[in-house]
Amino acid sequence: MPNRRPSPADIDQAVAALRRGEAIGLPTETVYGLAADAANPEAVRRIFALKGRPADHPLIVHLPDVEAMPAWARDIPDAAWELAQRFWPGPLTLILKRQPRVPDEVTGGQDTVGLRVPAHPLAQAVLQSFGGGLAAPSANRFGRISPTRAGHVREEFGDAVPIVLDGGECEVGIESTIVDLSARRPRILRPGMIGRAAVEAVIGPLGENGEGDDDAPRASGTLEKHYAPRTPLRLVSRAELTTAGRDGRVLALATVPEGAHGLALPAHPDGYAHGLYAALRELDASGAARLLVERPPDDPRWLAVHDRLRRAAAGAGPDAETGT
Ligand code: TXA
Ligand code: MG
Repeated sequence: MPNRRPSPADIDQAVAALRRGEAIGLPTETVYGLAADAANPEAVRRIFALKGRPADHPLIVHLPDVEAMPAWARDIPDAAWELAQRFWPGPLTLILKRQPRVPDEVTGGQDTVGLRVPAHPLAQAVLQSFGGGLAAPSANRFGRISPTRAGHVREEFGDAVPIVLDGGECEVGIESTIVDLSARRPRILRPGMIGRAAVEAVIGPLGENGEGDDDAPRASGTLEKHYAPRTPLRLVSRAELTTAGRDGRVLALATVPEGAHGLALPAHPDGYAHGLYAALRELDASGAARLLVERPPDDPRWLAVHDRLRRAAAGAGPDAETGT
């Protein structure tokens, strides 16, 4: 059962916990974050311990508004202000040169920092009241499926994270687009629902996309195994869905074909992204022997969804637990 929506007193309690250096579950419009005071190294280390995440994987700092950007980043290029003005608050993360005050724990020791102003009203309320920056990776254990509902965060951490603010289902459903503005040529490090064309419409041509890199520090390349269910998962054509068998489950576009069992998501990238992680969690919990996912259309608007499905397929299976 969903909990009641947080009251002002709940927000005060969450902010007090953040001030004590604790981590809380915080809804954003992309996915739920595991948030802690970004200026407090010990609080940031707690996030890594809870997630089981390697210490050299940098975290995104969430800010209440664009005016907070210069406190965390230096040498801010015009492109950053232009993108911030167009897309913040919203599902876009900017990688910029960091201010010296940003703890190494946040950046994985790199000279850059990821910044984002989230749009979710509860994230906004907490950030405005807290007044500082909140480091917040997706609120899942390392290598697992990102949470898009408060219940998912409780499944991941249980009593280890006693405060989870329930903001309902995340509207976007997959993680923010990451644009690196710290190098000479801007480029996308992780695709998201703000697509390449939308970014280029604001700041002009981008360099070649990184491979996408969730949870991977830029230097050490990509982690293919990610967003991974424990059940083996394959991407297939629609015709192949019926080969899932009685003990298999499918994730189809628009409708589950006759003779197959499972779930369908909207045949539109926004609706699909919105429902993707909850569907993967539900299918993973179904006890199925295998998951067959219908491959979405080969179209730039589906790029971010393809990226997440490819990683889910690469990491799926009973030994995905290690997440490396
Ligand atoms: O939508 C989102 O971005 C969510 C919500 C909670 O805001 N957060 C999220 O955080 O997805 P996380 O930690 O799961 O992914 C952060 C990504 C990783 O791929 C990390 O490598 C990259 O951001 N990142 C963070 N700081 C970076 C930096 N300084 N340079 C390059 N990549 C960075
Ligand atoms: Mg993540």
